Amino acid sequence: MLAPKPDPAEDPGFAALKDAIIARTGHHYYIDKDYLLRDRLDRRLLATGCGSFSDYLALLQQPRRGPAEWQELEAEITIGETFFFRHQDQFAALRDVIFPDLIRANAHRRSLRIWSAGCAVGAEPYSIAILLERLLGKDLRHWTIEIVGSDLSARALDQARAGIFSDWALRGMPPAERARDFTAMPDRRHWRIADRHRLRLRFAQHNLLDLPVEGGSVDWANFDLILCRNVLIYFSPARIAPTLAALARCLSPTGWLMVGHSDAIAALPRHLRIVELKGTIAFRHPDQPEAAAAPVPWQPILPPERPVPPASSGPPLPISPPPAGRPTAEPGRRMAPPLAVIRALANGGRLTEAASACRLAIDADPLDARLHLYDGIIAQAGGQAAVAEAALRRAVYLAGDMVLAHYHLGLLLLDGPVPQSGRRSMAQVIRLCTDLPQDAVLPESDGLTPRELVEQVRLRLRAWRG
Ligand SMILES: C[S@@+](CC[C@H](N)C(=O)[O-])C[C@H]1O[C@@H](n2cnc3c(N)ncnc32)[C@H](O)[C@@H]1O
Repeated sequence: MLAPKPDPAEDPGFAALKDAIIARTGHHYYIDKDYLLRDRLDRRLLATGCGSFSDYLALLQQPRRGPAEWQELEAEITIGETFFFRHQDQFAALRDVIFPDLIRANAHRRSLRIWSAGCAVGAEPYSIAILLERLLGKDLRHWTIEIVGSDLSARALDQARAGIFSDWALRGMPPAERARDFTAMPDRRHWRIADRHRLRLRFAQHNLLDLPVEGGSVDWANFDLILCRNVLIYFSPARIAPTLAALARCLSPTGWLMVGHSDAIAALPRHLRIVELKGTIAFRHPDQPEAAAAPVPWQPILPPERPVPPASSGPPLPISPPPAGRPTAEPGRRMAPPLAVIRALANGGRLTEAASACRLAIDADPLDARLHLYDGIIAQAGGQAAVAEAALRRAVYLAGDMVLAHYHLGLLLLDGPVPQSGRRSMAQVIRLCTDLPQDAVLPESDGLTPRELVEQVRLRLRAWRG
């Protein structure tokens, strides 16, 4: 029989263990999430046979077994969500402004040093390798490009080194682009990154909290570009400024630093100034001049902006005939594509086709709230905020308890001119989730539970307030 799980409220070791975890990893995120931390700790307690949080803390402190157990724990508690070309406006800024500037500034020595700090399973540094290949073209072979990906989680880095990614991690790349840089695995749902990119990257385990606040470290110095995106969001506000200051010291004099959209930067370290770019910002040393947009030729890597056609227009979608034996559609009327087809098109980056398919399906069944939800998500991905808002409002109107519709509407409105309405949508998400079984998977959510969705909402609201 399994030993009963220790209760954090009753085990005096829990608070000390939580403090030790936050102090070592920076994950202040867990400060008010005992239930989440406990969930993750339970797995380690089971694996190590520890009967209480105090025993487990003692194990972590053992000189011989402690370091290996910290690695297991760090892999368990870190959150490694990532995908290729995540935050398109940041990649557009890299493509149009930052890399052209760096290429000009470093043309005499033809070398670039790039660091993806908190790279998770590597989608971010591999995206940089792909982008640089497109930008430099044949000249790439005359350049020395060093790209380092680092992370706290050794498990994530093992995956990064293997360079195998699911369809889902590649949702930021259209299929034609995908074929240039990846080989399909036999299951056709996973893809291996080409060796020419893999060999250009180096991965190293590194804790950002170990960066010295004063002075520097030779290994982590002189970078022309540092990306530290969607990592600081887990840190306490008090940790963010020193971490940024330490990262600033790792930049070359002409270097650039970019953090994620949600990383709440409350105070700018005095070593940095903000550079405003289209749809995003970056940081540089204060004495660097403004960079102009690129005059150099380059090949586009990001999927082109795909306008989502207005309702009831758009090219007809080629729809395969129904298999023999199944009833055919009425003559003159096109069959509505099933939801799975719409999802597959959207996940493959084929937004125009996905939007057309969705419209056809809505024509056939205008009261299906899920279709309006997808219509909204697809329009949102295509940068059509007004179309997306109208579709998501229709979904909410048709199914007031559809949590994902409120959530996407909330995301959209928080970024818009009236963010207060976004807060109201998010409050509705929390209310609806409270009434649901916490570990059930939410419909249309790709595996999210109500508990996880509420965490995401809280993180997003915190970033918004920050
Ligand atoms: C959400 S992922 C972000 C991945 C990627 N940068 C992106 O934006 O797609 C956050 C990553 O930060 C890493 N991380 C968290 N705390 C860290 C620390 N103290 N030092 C280094 N990496 C850390 C986590 O292990 C995780 O893989």
